[in-house]
Amino acid sequence: MITVNTFKEYKGQKKLAQVTCYDYTTAKLVEEAGIDFILVGDSLGMVMMGYPNTLPVKMEDMITYGSSVVRGAPNTFVVVDMPFMSYQLSDEQALMNAGRLIKETGCQAVKLEGGMKYASRIKAITDAGIPVVAHVGLTPQSVNAFGGYKVQGKSSDQAYNLIKDCLAVQEAGAFAVTLECVPEKLAAKVTNMLHISTIGIGASSACDAQVLVNQDMLGSSSGKVAKFVKKYANLHDVIVDAFKEYKDEVVNSKFPTLEQTYKIEENDLEEAIKRIEEEK
Ligand code: KIV
Repeated sequence: MITVNTFKEYKGQKKLAQVTCYDYTTAKLVEEAGIDFILVGDSLGMVMMGYPNTLPVKMEDMITYGSSVVRGAPNTFVVVDMPFMSYQLSDEQALMNAGRLIKETGCQAVKLEGGMKYASRIKAITDAGIPVVAHVGLTPQSVNAFGGYKVQGKSSDQAYNLIKDCLAVQEAGAFAVTLECVPEKLAAKVTNMLHISTIGIGASSACDAQVLVNQDMLGSSSGKVAKFVKKYANLHDVIVDAFKEYKDEVVNSKFPTLEQTYKIEENDLEEAIKRIEEEK
């Protein structure tokens, strides 16, 4: 299993691959594939729970899904997201909830959205011995403040603030920072400036690591995906076709066949029927 030290070791040398994961069965597959580390993202609010954004996700949701993932991938480094309003109020609130996530899920690190503004939260959590990944650029918990899901850091002011955010979270003790929807040149600059790792999602190959939402990369979600997503499979069609074929076979009495059927000896059945008749 990789640890926080692996991020330091690999910085500028080797890349790391992360996917999001929310359930036991998928976690087993992720571990079997040798993915370096997992994110139990609050994106589960959208892809697992059907909310329009990540804002309604609760601590209890992160604990249910996070602990399921750890049971499925016990030998993989797992980062769990701090949901909206679980760290915004104070350093004390952030530390208490980060501690609860680590204790009740078994994950190794937490992730929270924000840069300079939440540097003191990161310090409070890391001072308690909990590794933190920061998340800057497009931070989905601020979707209403951004007015939608938009590329960040395109203007000089935005780029300046993003660099300041990254330096602040590094100073505060984060061991990595997720850069979401950031132009390539800015991501490359930041990656070179920092001694901690950058994890890109829509932030180019310049980053030290990459992360994708598993439903997006496996093509199991229907509908449009972001420009930065590459589909490595088309599970949507595979799954819908399998459900259709099953339904068709049930309706036409083609499933189950003898292969999926249990047997009883004829005379045992006759004996049982005889007893029922006698008891009438
Ligand atoms: O919640 C999530 O899945 C994330 C990724 C988009 C990085 O934060």
